[in-house]
Amino acid sequence: MGVYGLRSTLKVPESIVYGSHTVEELGQHTQKYGKRAVLIRGGRSLEKSGNYEKILSILKKDKISVEEIGGISHDPDEDQVRGIVEKVRTIQPDVVIGIGGGSVIDTAKAVSIIATCGGEVSDYWKGRVFDRPSIPYIAVPTTSGTGAEITKNAVITSHDHSFKKSIRSEYMIPNIALVDPTLTISMPSNLTAQTGLDALIQNLEAYTSKNAGPITDTLAREGIGLAGRYLIRACTTPDEPEPREGLSLAALYGGITLANAGLGLAHGLSHPLGIRFNIPHGQACAITMPSVIELNYPARKNRYDEVAKLLGTGPDAVSAFRTLLHKLGISTKLGDYGVTKDHIPLIVDESKGGSRRFNPIDHSDETVSTLLEELL
Ligand SMILES: [Fe+2]
Repeated sequence: MGVYGLRSTLKVPESIVYGSHTVEELGQHTQKYGKRAVLIRGGRSLEKSGNYEKILSILKKDKISVEEIGGISHDPDEDQVRGIVEKVRTIQPDVVIGIGGGSVIDTAKAVSIIATCGGEVSDYWKGRVFDRPSIPYIAVPTTSGTGAEITKNAVITSHDHSFKKSIRSEYMIPNIALVDPTLTISMPSNLTAQTGLDALIQNLEAYTSKNAGPITDTLAREGIGLAGRYLIRACTTPDEPEPREGLSLAALYGGITLANAGLGLAHGLSHPLGIRFNIPHGQACAITMPSVIELNYPARKNRYDEVAKLLGTGPDAVSAFRTLLHKLGISTKLGDYGVTKDHIPLIVDESKGGSRRFNPIDHSDETVSTLLEELL
């Protein structure tokens, strides 16, 4: 059996709508589910960009009544989700629209399903199963990174903020993912870099995952190439439409590929690094990525060699990745983020399970400890 004979499945939203100015169609898509919408959003950046007023007028034009729930924090916790579920249950909307970055998209995803299935976030952490569909949910990202508009999980923080953990179900895949690159034009350069690195690494880890297959490979290769071509350009010329279109597509492909092929060790380590040392997610993935490529290289030589060509920034995948990080001003020294040797056992412990299962080679905790020690 050749590589094209490998098993490959795709589980995706009912509709994926991509393209500049597709947000103009939001009212028409919403109407499929009814006339009463709850719109969940984050802080003030959507208003500052002018996109919020625009979205409200689009919905008004199509006679959608809107109740707004704003102020979703960067790391939504159990208590915040509970409060929004109570509001949504009172409103009883036909459809939920989540507009924002990954945290907003995930919060709206969690709220839409808990509103129909009942219970608390912690019940589902402990193993309770979602047993029916969510309120119809339309996800509209305003960043180009997480791909949360595609995936079936929502990352929620514990109420004491000591850990983050996903709840997940196929019922949580948004009904519609509407990806309009023009909504990302107002993103500042540092956020563009952090989210763009997440998009790149999600495609890269899915492409080299144990669970990679021909359908996800095709999208992942394209996503890596788009990120290589446009990440720096989107940071240096933030108002230029073409790099935004390329990065939005890379993020969309990253969401599809991670949801269907899994990720790897860099993502596994990003969770404790992110929460314990307050490092943005994409950056937390990027810090260990060159070392993870070195570790995995013997198992996926051809694929990493292809990644180097797709990135176009170095003769091999490690140096190509390092060059990219250097241009973005991102350090791969853990000491620069406050990590010491004493922290390593905790980081290793909290990185277990999840993404590490799909890493192309099996690896012991000792191997991971050594990898981290070399980055101090
Ligand atoms: Fe990620």
